[in-house]
Amino acid sequence: MPHYVQRGQIPRKRHTRFHRPDGRLYTEQLLGTRGFTGISSLLYHRVPPTQALRFGQAISVQPETVPEQALRHHHLRTAAITPHGDPITGRTPLLVNDDVALGICCPTEPMSCFYKNADGDELLFIHEGTGRLETMFGTLHYTEGDYLIIPRGTIYRIVPESTQTRMLVIEASSTIEVPRRYRNEYGQMLEHAPYCERDIRVPEYMEPCDETGEFEVRIKARQRITPYFYAHHPFDVVGWDGYLYPWAFSIHDFEPITGSLHMPPPIHQTFEAHNFVVCSFCPRMLDYHPDAIVVPYNHSNLESDEVLYYVNDRFGSRRGIEVGSITLHPAGLPHGPQPGAVEASQGARRTEELAVMVDTFRPLHLTRAAQALDDPQYPYSWIP
Ligand SMILES: [Fe+2]
Repeated sequence: MPHYVQRGQIPRKRHTRFHRPDGRLYTEQLLGTRGFTGISSLLYHRVPPTQALRFGQAISVQPETVPEQALRHHHLRTAAITPHGDPITGRTPLLVNDDVALGICCPTEPMSCFYKNADGDELLFIHEGTGRLETMFGTLHYTEGDYLIIPRGTIYRIVPESTQTRMLVIEASSTIEVPRRYRNEYGQMLEHAPYCERDIRVPEYMEPCDETGEFEVRIKARQRITPYFYAHHPFDVVGWDGYLYPWAFSIHDFEPITGSLHMPPPIHQTFEAHNFVVCSFCPRMLDYHPDAIVVPYNHSNLESDEVLYYVNDRFGSRRGIEVGSITLHPAGLPHGPQPGAVEASQGARRTEELAVMVDTFRPLHLTRAAQALDDPQYPYSWIP
């Protein structure tokens, strides 16, 4: 997405004859968004990507939400989730609406097949663990603190290399992009942006795989997963170019914008998508006016639900949260620093907090799994 990239071999002109060493033709595929007018890439395969042998029974992956209850603040203690499954089946959706699904994944098993999300882009925040995101575009090595942006339609598998993995999984029904206000009319990232192209990692070239056999790709579309079977390896791409590809950005490369007085959450914005934004709260110098109150003021987010995922437990304005906690402060209720936080912050020069925020512009719904993690006392945590 961020800029033009080319990997492997491609013909000099698009849509022209491109021969394999054995004289046969490579086959071209356009992966494109917004009809034919959004960002796209052209990929060159050894085998036509249309050659499916068969497909299996679809299974629903529609998250089960709980009926609407009283409007209140929530605190989900996600550390209680038992690690299970693989990097796809181990995902536990917690907060969902038609625009986005937020969940946690702590896998214990390797992926036995490939995966493609055709419903929208995915953003995986790697809280713990190292490994490889292998895709038809090549490989991205990941480590703790990485955001992995996987465009819809990308066939991939995640190969953890560490014994423990913990991911915050953000599944959009739209495109996840660098915020428009960080880019000029040519797409280049601007001087005031908190990160730039140098911080963005793109897939390393991976030799095309010419294995034959039976390869399963589980395709998520319309909240169902349909298994598709092919006689060729899905990573048979000899080359590609374009603007559409998976990429990585480390939260540790986000350069915080600080001010004399308290700066609002938009300065932490990292990504945008349809009807939600993602922000990174990173270690930084605190507000430097001599009389500054360095924790947030009470605020009513009248048109958005605010979700925070706490990567560490150093969040200045909150108490009682743990590593891996999620708070949901819904539209319609004010929230702010908890008792004693303003006083305790006096004279502080730095914060070491690390958190990922997701603000949605339409209400989120709790899943049944989220309900089981919810702290019933949290709404009263502002009482001194
Ligand atoms: Fe807030």
